[in-house]
Amino acid sequence: MRVQNDSAMSVNKEVKRITTHILQEMKHSGEKIAMLTAYDYSMATILDDAGVDVLLVGDSASNVMAGHETTLPITLDQMIYHAQGVVRGAKRAFVVVDLPFGSYQGNSKEALNSAIRIMKESGAHGVKLEGGTEIAESVVRIITAGIPVMGHLGLTPQSIYKFGTYTVRAKGEEEAEKLKTDALALQEAGCFAIVLEKIPAKLAREVSESLHIPTIGIGAGTDCDGQVLVVNDMIGLTKGFKPRFLRQYLNLYEGILEATQSYIKDVKAKDFPNEKEQY
Ligand code: KIV
Repeated sequence: MRVQNDSAMSVNKEVKRITTHILQEMKHSGEKIAMLTAYDYSMATILDDAGVDVLLVGDSASNVMAGHETTLPITLDQMIYHAQGVVRGAKRAFVVVDLPFGSYQGNSKEALNSAIRIMKESGAHGVKLEGGTEIAESVVRIITAGIPVMGHLGLTPQSIYKFGTYTVRAKGEEEAEKLKTDALALQEAGCFAIVLEKIPAKLAREVSESLHIPTIGIGAGTDCDGQVLVVNDMIGLTKGFKPRFLRQYLNLYEGILEATQSYIKDVKAKDFPNEKEQY
């Protein structure tokens, strides 16, 4: 247990939680939705204080938190653990959690059971699934149980071994047509929003205009109704990852590296702790 400094008791201010209804209104008013990933309490607290609308407990935790090459290895228990911390830190943001690979593809009952575990054990506000028409039955079943569902089309990293590469999806007419059909099927099934990952901006615009639910883009251009980035990439924690769609707002890798080098130097030089830093 960490001891708080001085009299740091938090003041419980009334904060209005973002809902799926508010996200829908934002699409119609033209206010863009700002979404970021988060995987723990501390980061969720900062992003929530900054005013992010949606926090996604992405299965990208498998990459950026656990160091795996793909999103496939992360488990439902691990996603729930990450989600619990994020939910505790998020006072205003709507928290969505990825159903991990292998927890919903079997059948719609399995999908529902996984979604229920996430909602019950983490306190999150919704779940995200990758895929189109093939998961529509699961989407309907989860929503029927009262759980909001976000879709995810385009580059769907859980299918990376089918695609073979992380390059832009749906550049050809056939795949673009399938994506449009999938987007309509997800909307029809009841999704409250759809992530569009790494597809041509023109296609993302067409899809966004054709839907009444919001689209959230990552590498899908400016005309989506919102944007999402992996927070570790946005703040420059991920070394050497710089795809074209990524705007890096900080270079925390360098910042932490330099701070750590200074700390090591001070410890070795017996400069830390000094007289004021001891009891
Ligand atoms: O897992 C994740 O971080 C995601 C975003 C890239 C949308 O699904």
